[in-house]
Amino acid sequence: MEKLIFLGFMVISSLSLAIFPRGYASQTDPLYSENDESWFHDLSHGHHKTAKLHFYVQDLLKGENQTVHEVARAEITSNSATSFGSVRVLDNPMTAGPDINSTPVGRFQGLVTSADLEILSFVMNINFVFTAGRFRGSTISISGMNQVMSDRRELPVIGGTGAFRFARGYVITTTYSADMEKGYNVLEYTIYVNYGDEFSMGSCDHANI
Ligand SMILES: *[C@@H]1O[C@H](CO)[C@@H](O)[C@H](O)[C@H]1NC(C)=O
Repeated sequence: MEKLIFLGFMVISSLSLAIFPRGYASQTDPLYSENDESWFHDLSHGHHKTAKLHFYVQDLLKGENQTVHEVARAEITSNSATSFGSVRVLDNPMTAGPDINSTPVGRFQGLVTSADLEILSFVMNINFVFTAGRFRGSTISISGMNQVMSDRRELPVIGGTGAFRFARGYVITTTYSADMEKGYNVLEYTIYVNYGDEFSMGSCDHANI
């Protein structure tokens, strides 16, 4: 029964996001909301802590609020159709809804390297730094390949800190919107993660360092 209610909740919350993204955003504190955890779904059962986190990443390539900056390029980069060799560092807002003014849930920080000579594909080394709700201060790290012209991209979760210690899982990302002229993209991210800090320190006792 609990499961049914929970499933119902998930369906309703994802429907409301899809149909009323603006309404959803305006119902919440635009700056910070401790209670809005609709972007987080606890799927734990038994000893296993499992969660699904769904949110949007605001990618600002130009203008006064630019969050993505190129820090290096190669001699080939300007003449490469895929900007091969370009390395960018970014600190993008993560929001509960697609609207940039919807509830902030964290920052998307790291390095993105253009690393394919033929197709548009990036190596992503990213930390999701959560700033809202019970996961404030915890992080999840991903490292993987992102072929941005594909509809759905999968990247591995390689670890986490705080509540997400021992995180393992994967991320699915899709492009929600892309505006080349404005240099403004919105990316949709869903993280499926197993985690937990049940670490036996006992096994370290005899490691006399
Ligand atoms: C930049 O951010 C500020 C503060 O959030 C906002 O008022 C302003 O409209 C933004 N500028 C642009 C060009 O979006």
